[in-house]
Amino acid sequence: MLDAILNELKLDAAVITDPYNMRHVSGFRGGEGALYVSRTQKVLITDSRYTEQAARESGFTIVEEHREHKREQILAECMKKENNAGAFAMGYEDESLLCAQFDRLKDALRVEKWVPLKDKVDSLRVIKTEEELSYLAKAEEIGDRAFAKLLPLLKPGMTELEAAAELEYLMKKEGAEDLSFNTIVASGLNSSMPHAIPSDKKMEEGDFVTFDFGCKYKGYCSDMTRTVVLGKASEKQKEIYNVVLKAQLASLDALRAGVSGSSVDKVARDIITEAGYGEYFGHGLGHSVGLFIHENPRLSPTDDTILQPGTIETVEPGIYVPGFGGVRIEDMVVVTEDGCINFAHSPKELIEIPVE
Ligand code: GLY
Ligand code: MN
Ligand code: MN
Repeated sequence: MLDAILNELKLDAAVITDPYNMRHVSGFRGGEGALYVSRTQKVLITDSRYTEQAARESGFTIVEEHREHKREQILAECMKKENNAGAFAMGYEDESLLCAQFDRLKDALRVEKWVPLKDKVDSLRVIKTEEELSYLAKAEEIGDRAFAKLLPLLKPGMTELEAAAELEYLMKKEGAEDLSFNTIVASGLNSSMPHAIPSDKKMEEGDFVTFDFGCKYKGYCSDMTRTVVLGKASEKQKEIYNVVLKAQLASLDALRAGVSGSSVDKVARDIITEAGYGEYFGHGLGHSVGLFIHENPRLSPTDDTILQPGTIETVEPGIYVPGFGGVRIEDMVVVTEDGCINFAHSPKELIEIPVE
């Protein structure tokens, strides 16, 4: 696969530094270091904290970097072995490499042509293998189990931070190795902020409470959102919730291989707009997920990528009304030839948490 990229871009070699791409290409999970990849060499450069782990996890040749044998020097040694006669063309990860790191490479290496890899290496991660899909399904299932155990603990007076801590603890207890992203718990007026940071605000009777959470299983992320009401929902809360639910179910129905991400986004956006809430749905409908939480392709008005079987997408419409509150419902699914398989199984009808 990487050879195809080397050929397409007419590269002699490429340096891969994005931790998720390093992991996907080499198997090394440590995330620190760099890969040198050419047609004849597959070298993993890392430091003494990771060399034993790297040798266990990766079939690449491991070279240790340290003060007397710096990364740039090791890369130069790799380049020398290529017996390259003409101008050396080297790929680099322009989307993630820091300017300072790129400057160091440019200063140290005799490369005539630096070629940005753009999203070429990332794109190798779009279609998941059966094994990857099983890890993603398991991660989402851990989220489902943790959320079910959280619901009976919710009550007025509990702070958003306490609820987030409980959810994170429950996910770890259920087998999560890490979080996919910082857990969002947004209650009452805070719920109109799609990515609110949990605070010491106490949840109150009548609040919408949005939980957006995810965990990692064998490195792969889950992502799910549910919005509940503490106590009985008002008519307005029910109306908004049902518009979001209708948009979510219709876009899940429209999602299949062969359609564009933008067309699926439009299904949800049209429903929300027709209900009069278009201006309150600012973000895209969804994104792909894998080793990283936000991957391409997106379900968004600006992504016309045609979806392929084996691609993961989240489907997460929302309505956020400042001064009132907000609702988001999010599932994570895998695209198939004739539809999608939903990895999330937490209930989606509006949950009203009993209040004594
Ligand atoms: N909280 C991250 C997401 O749902 O995209
Ligand atoms: Mn989410
Ligand atoms: Mn998401």
